[in-house]
Amino acid sequence: MSIYKKLLIASVSALFCSVAHAESTYVSIQPLFQQHCLLCHSGQHAAAGLSLDSYEGIKKGSLRGSVVKASDPEGSELIRRLKGNSQPRMPMTGPPFLTDAEINRVAAWIKAGLPKGQTAANGSQNVASSNKPDAGKPVNYTHVAPIFARRCVKCHTERGLMGSAPEGYLLNSYAATLSAGDRVRIIPGNSAASELYRRIKGYSMPRMPHDGPPYLSADEIALIAGWINDGARDSSGRKAPIPTGARVRFEGQLNALWNVDGATLIITGNTRIKKIPRPGDRVRVEGWVNAQGQVEVERIRRR
Ligand code: HEC
Ligand code: HEC
Repeated sequence: MSIYKKLLIASVSALFCSVAHAESTYVSIQPLFQQHCLLCHSGQHAAAGLSLDSYEGIKKGSLRGSVVKASDPEGSELIRRLKGNSQPRMPMTGPPFLTDAEINRVAAWIKAGLPKGQTAANGSQNVASSNKPDAGKPVNYTHVAPIFARRCVKCHTERGLMGSAPEGYLLNSYAATLSAGDRVRIIPGNSAASELYRRIKGYSMPRMPHDGPPYLSADEIALIAGWINDGARDSSGRKAPIPTGARVRFEGQLNALWNVDGATLIITGNTRIKKIPRPGDRVRVEGWVNAQGQVEVERIRRR
């Protein structure tokens, strides 16, 4: 073999070694966090109290405790969340989730004992404070999920600040947020009749978030309204189906016969009207969603 070939082989294998090494440092995997996690896991309202924007933040962990155990990827909550062994799977906006290769890179870093890496690229990254769709594009779940993650999930989760989720309503995944369960809180295409919107707007009481003020900003409320009105799309932009037949329940102010804070009510021969309400009265409405995404009222009564 010529000396040149030998040199070539030597330098190529040196290159591979340094790549393999670089793959397993915080510095080398940090771009993954930057791209997929910081939207929710950074700053003052970091989701679950977990900041993934610095080496120290990751080692410190969440409100529940540490999320990485040096040399033990399988025992690390971070890996369990990325794989879906712990729910909700991360990132909360998924699917899509990280690829197996990406998860393996994070696991290899933990396995290697959490080395920090060479460059000084540490400390908080600048994260866009707003997460809005590009002009002309519809709002989807990736735009609103960070608001729920930062402001709502601390209570609307299993074992949250108030114990089990209030009213059994989880806001920690797309499926849970849209779930019909005992009743729906989101009617795609109809924000005015959606209890989630009514609560952040203060039409239904108590207003959300329950630990406000501060409540959501006008921009955040408008973004969520736009998301619901445009079909409550998932992360890949698919509209949610109308939950025909699902139950609905809310309270609000009757503006006109029959409209409650902008929500049009369908009154039929089967509707039971109790304590005849007049415009201006607070009312309680119970009904179900018809195929057009409107509320057919079973019972309405003055409060
Ligand atoms: C859209 C917001 C959002 C994104 C993006 C996101 N997360 Fe989360 N994450 C949350 C929320 C909210 C929770 C709390 C869930 C719960 O308790 O129900 C959480 C919880 C976690 C936990 C568990 C903390 C504990 O101790 O219970 C880990 C670990 C985690 N996330 C890692 C990640 C990683 C890694 C990424 C990126 C690949 C990521 N998350 C992306 C919102 C998000
Ligand atoms: C500090 C805890 C807490 C936070 C944070 C919080 N909530 Fe709530 N949420 C509650 C409690 C408690 C209730 C039940 C209140 C009641 O109706 O008496 C509730 C009820 C609700 C309901 C009504 C469920 C139903 O159908 O009866 C919705 C919708 C809701 N919250 C949405 C949200 C949203 C959206 C956010 C974030 C913007 C949020 N919540 C933040 C505690 C919280």
